[in-house]
Amino acid sequence: MTGRTLLLASAVLAGLVASLVAAPAPAPAPTPYQPFCAAIWLFGTPCAEISAALTQQIEAFSPLFGCPDCHYNLVTATPLRISANHTSADGLQAESISFSFSPMMMAGCRVSGRSATIGFSTTLLDGGLNYCNLYNLLAASGLTSAPGFMEMTNEWACLGFGTSQCKL
Ligand SMILES: *[C@@H]1O[C@H](CO)[C@@H](O)[C@H](O)[C@H]1NC(C)=O
Repeated sequence: MTGRTLLLASAVLAGLVASLVAAPAPAPAPTPYQPFCAAIWLFGTPCAEISAALTQQIEAFSPLFGCPDCHYNLVTATPLRISANHTSADGLQAESISFSFSPMMMAGCRVSGRSATIGFSTTLLDGGLNYCNLYNLLAASGLTSAPGFMEMTNEWACLGFGTSQCKL
């Protein structure tokens, strides 16, 4: 090593040490999580019927439509897509909900639903909140016993799926 390289090397080392000393290890930031549930439901009835039933159910569960203790709000509804939201009783938490409808052969319908916590949470444990936001609408409107009903999701796509007891 030449004297110059040595000088350079020690300068780099000194800088490194100085920066390590100057910058104390930052406290680990909490990992931001966004709890959500995505699922697909199949029905043996036309999308128009499923979409109408879900729209009516969201309205029936909305304070704007005469259910003061309910927490759903319809944002937009078209035959192919419904957007809504759900807020917690204390108003501190909200979830954004959507359903989209794809007609299938033989007058069937494939519904893709999603509920996601708005903003971030420090935990992925939502107690099945996002799953139940969706499931409660299907159950209350009788769609879970509609012809051809089939639910497709799993724990990775939908938190709390398989473990949550949804209470209406
Ligand atoms: C939920 O939807 C309603 C109706 O569109 C809207 O007024 C409200 O701001 C929304 N809430 C949140 C948290 O997005």
